[in-house]
Amino acid sequence: MALAAIDLHRTEKAPAADPSDAAIELRNIGVRFTTDRGTISALENIDLVVGKGGFLTLLGPSGCGKSTLLRVVADIIKPSDGAATVLGGPPQEARRRRDIGFVFQDAALLPWRTVIDNVTLPLEVGGGAPAGRARDPRELLDLVGLSGWERAFPHELSGGMRQRVSIARALVSGPKLLLMDEPFGALDEITRDRLNEELLSVWEKTGTTILFVTHSIYEAAFLGQQVLLLAARPGRVRELVPVDLPTPRKIAQRETPRFVSLVTRLRGILETC
Ligand SMILES: Nc1ncnc2c1ncn2[C@@H]1O[C@H](COP(=O)(O)OP(=O)(O)O)[C@@H](O)[C@H]1O
Ligand SMILES: [Mg+2]
Repeated sequence: MALAAIDLHRTEKAPAADPSDAAIELRNIGVRFTTDRGTISALENIDLVVGKGGFLTLLGPSGCGKSTLLRVVADIIKPSDGAATVLGGPPQEARRRRDIGFVFQDAALLPWRTVIDNVTLPLEVGGGAPAGRARDPRELLDLVGLSGWERAFPHELSGGMRQRVSIARALVSGPKLLLMDEPFGALDEITRDRLNEELLSVWEKTGTTILFVTHSIYEAAFLGQQVLLLAARPGRVRELVPVDLPTPRKIAQRETPRFVSLVTRLRGILETC
């Protein structure tokens, strides 16, 4: 009894040390590609822990390995060195359990299917969603601001609306982890700002862990709880910057001295990447 009491006391003092709280754990990850012109080292010595429910943004120059890092987590490529743990096990198992959703720069909707039928597509292929995890597609469309558009076809939507559909589609099988690779990179600035705010509200409502790649300093600072800056050739961690901004975050906050000084700091680090 006495021992149990001591353990409890310890647990209270250091709750964050429990590794099961991690959604993503990368240890000494390296990725090399062999090409006709030799070997390219895309990532080197990447160590990273993202807590469950966290929002991490990845920022770095073109070619520094951001997409490669996402692909390692998603089990699309196997690392050459090191070990990746995703939701408590190998990335392969997380992918098999359909715990991972992916959103790319291009929404890639099927043009012959309506909005709602695009959202439900993942439920029809590959065995559908795990039991009890499928989310109501209509609620998801409401969550991303598209109620009333269920029966529309992709060609009737703007770029921002198509990207909203692809977010709803990524969430329909109830993933615990959402990987987003420059999802708003092709959108105009006003649409992007609006989607940034909406994504934060989706994140808060769903509790999904998000890993978000961007090369916009503003986007990285506005969205992330932490910003991971990668340096190029070979891709490696330059710095992990915690973001301490008041919540809920609104685009107007970008005018505040706190936000401006964070952006200045990130820009300074990025110049050395
Ligand atoms: N499948 C591949 N084969 C060969 N080289 C690759 C492959 N994928 C990425 N690379 C190289 O790895 C580096 C990192 O690429 P990537 O992860 O796409 O960078 P980022 O997303 O940051 O722009 C680049 O030099 C790129 O050319
Ligand atoms: Mg990329």
